Amino acid sequence: MLTEEQNRMLTQVSPGTPGGALLRRYWHPVAIARELTPEAPTMVLRVLGEDLVLFLQTGGQAGLVADRCPHRGASLYYGRVQKRGISCAYHGWLIDRGGNVLETPAEQGDNMCRTVRTTAYPVQKFMGFYWAYMGPLPAPVLPKYDIFMRRDGRHRITVYPRLDCNWFVSAENGVDSTHLQLLHQEPPNAKYKPADSVRGYIDDIVSSEYDKTDYGIMKRRTYHGGTIDEHPLIFPLWLRTRSSIWLRTPIDDEHTNHWVLDFKKIDPPSDEIEVEYLAPFKDPPDAVHPVAKFDRLPKRGWPLSEDVVMWETQGRIADRTKEHLGASDKGVALLRRTMFEEIEKVQRGEDPMGVFRDERIIDTNFDKSITMTYPTGHVAKTVPV
Ligand code: FES
Ligand SMILES: [Fe+2]
Repeated sequence: MLTEEQNRMLTQVSPGTPGGALLRRYWHPVAIARELTPEAPTMVLRVLGEDLVLFLQTGGQAGLVADRCPHRGASLYYGRVQKRGISCAYHGWLIDRGGNVLETPAEQGDNMCRTVRTTAYPVQKFMGFYWAYMGPLPAPVLPKYDIFMRRDGRHRITVYPRLDCNWFVSAENGVDSTHLQLLHQEPPNAKYKPADSVRGYIDDIVSSEYDKTDYGIMKRRTYHGGTIDEHPLIFPLWLRTRSSIWLRTPIDDEHTNHWVLDFKKIDPPSDEIEVEYLAPFKDPPDAVHPVAKFDRLPKRGWPLSEDVVMWETQGRIADRTKEHLGASDKGVALLRRTMFEEIEKVQRGEDPMGVFRDERIIDTNFDKSITMTYPTGHVAKTVPV
């Protein structure tokens, strides 16, 4: 159980908040790269509570700037892209990728160009996404996790419906080992059902352990028979599981984007990244529980679709002042403690966990987790989430 203030520290994402300062130390995927084209060269994004415009210059480079024009606040979404930046549709102010004002055509002289700047963030294209870094410069490297670097197969992105809840419940789920055997006890087309739907497959598990690594928290399930299943939470908000990585980016305190990047070994390999969009799991799509109704525990997009129901029904921002954590929640407790410690590091001016400044490839147990087999036949085809 937390205090209200502690809960705010874990969940707030906007500038000037402790949690927002922590999240701004990481590169975040913010858009599907192929959606930004010369025909549709601007996109409005809300990331970490900030309204931004992603734009594609005519030379092909992308920029990310505040949505509101620094002149009188019109949206740059309607701007005209140029070789040197984006020109506001209203009075033509030309803004470059660094947030500098290059031209103010209706003004005499260049006074505004010398004195006015707008918010701009570094952006790069990688693995089918545009990624943004919104923290203090110099930016760290975009970490090269093993799954990103595989070249012996193909990658595919699945775009999940927007989560209408705060990001931290999804992170907690990544270190919540036991829900696999309970929430996800009925895979689509399962040949088996547990004997007791209350216990699900929980009795397959001997223990669940959690250890910190230099990039996050490794969770480890030990099954009867000795099989060990390990896959990590990549701090603070991704989950590497089996052949995929679950990427999420807070939109604001109450909404989160969720993508799954999946790798499959194929011969010949392909550089092309497929993108699949999933339809909403609930109706109406933008409402929240209990107004919106989910399709029970939806099997489309399983098992993540079941997780989504559990996350959103905890509330837009889960109230952690009223919960009752048990021993099986020790991964959740460790993640929260880690968040508080890493927030303190940022406040001391240090890099938090998972921020890298060298270009090495980071091992997240990828090969081991994709070849995982379970000792009990009935869970052999489930994904260890
Ligand atoms: S509001 Fe953008 S140039 Fe005037
Ligand atoms: Fe799950």
